[in-house]
Amino acid sequence: MAIYKEFKDKVALVTGGAGGIGKATVRKLGANGCKVFICDISDAIVNTTIEEIQSEGIDIDGVSVDIACEESVQAMVDACIKRYGKIDYLVTAAGIYKDKKLTEMTFNEWKQTIDINLNGVFLVTHLVLPQMLERKQGSIIVFGSQAGIRGSALHTHYAATKSAMQGFARSLIYEVAASGVRINCVAPGVIRTPMTMNGSPEKMVKWLESIPMRRFGEAEEVANVIAFLLSDDASYVVGQTIPINGGSVVNT
Ligand SMILES: NC(=O)c1ccc[n+]([C@@H]2O[C@H](COP(=O)([O-])OP(=O)(O)OC[C@H]3O[C@@H](n4cnc5c(N)ncnc54)[C@H](O)[C@@H]3O)[C@@H](O)[C@H]2O)c1
Repeated sequence: MAIYKEFKDKVALVTGGAGGIGKATVRKLGANGCKVFICDISDAIVNTTIEEIQSEGIDIDGVSVDIACEESVQAMVDACIKRYGKIDYLVTAAGIYKDKKLTEMTFNEWKQTIDINLNGVFLVTHLVLPQMLERKQGSIIVFGSQAGIRGSALHTHYAATKSAMQGFARSLIYEVAASGVRINCVAPGVIRTPMTMNGSPEKMVKWLESIPMRRFGEAEEVANVIAFLLSDDASYVVGQTIPINGGSVVNT
């Protein structure tokens, strides 16, 4: 496993930090000496995660947030800066994934996914970027998906937000990369987290059959790529979308 000495005393803000990939990322960064501030949808899951991760010797704090609410995100970023004084890394893992045919989807259902998966990334990035630009350093990860690359049945809303993350990362580099701030996008396939592992047995079999490696990914396998992209080892990698999917989509 790679060791990232430069993570020591850096500060990472991880949205959706109590979720599958968010928590694995917190562990990976924290194990390398990074201080981690998490946010997620409720006090209960944030506090449970903080207790769990603190017991592993990691410096962690956090608050609850609704990532789709401007005031809530502002309060969360303020709390992180108050606690740790800066933000070096931003990992925007908060997201939702719901099955729905477009013809059966209400406008409110469409908007909920857009608000959390897309507008939520705007809100937090918009607030965190100025201090990164001022300090001329920082690294950001946004989340695309296999669904955003090749499409996914019942997920027009979700896939639209995930394709958008690729465009977001590709475009933001023109505003930030020359100032020493990097942004990249990860595009996981099917990863074993609470988001995906509640489907029917038939759906699971169908998914497995579509993956050349014939297994689901682990959250840690995504966290490893995120840690690399955040690290100095990826110092010339910007605006890219990195698939992590056991081969289910290649040559994008
Ligand atoms: N698991 C996969 O197979 C997979 C595949 C492709 C992309 N992704 C993306 O990876 C990211 C992490 O997903 P995961 O698999 O860890 O899912 P997860 O459901 O385990 O974690 C997502 C977290 O986001 C939080 N969240 C949801 N709405 C929120 C809101 N309004 N405000 C704050 N927090 C909110 C949830 O409470 C949850 O803890 C997501 O953006 C997801 O779309 C996951």
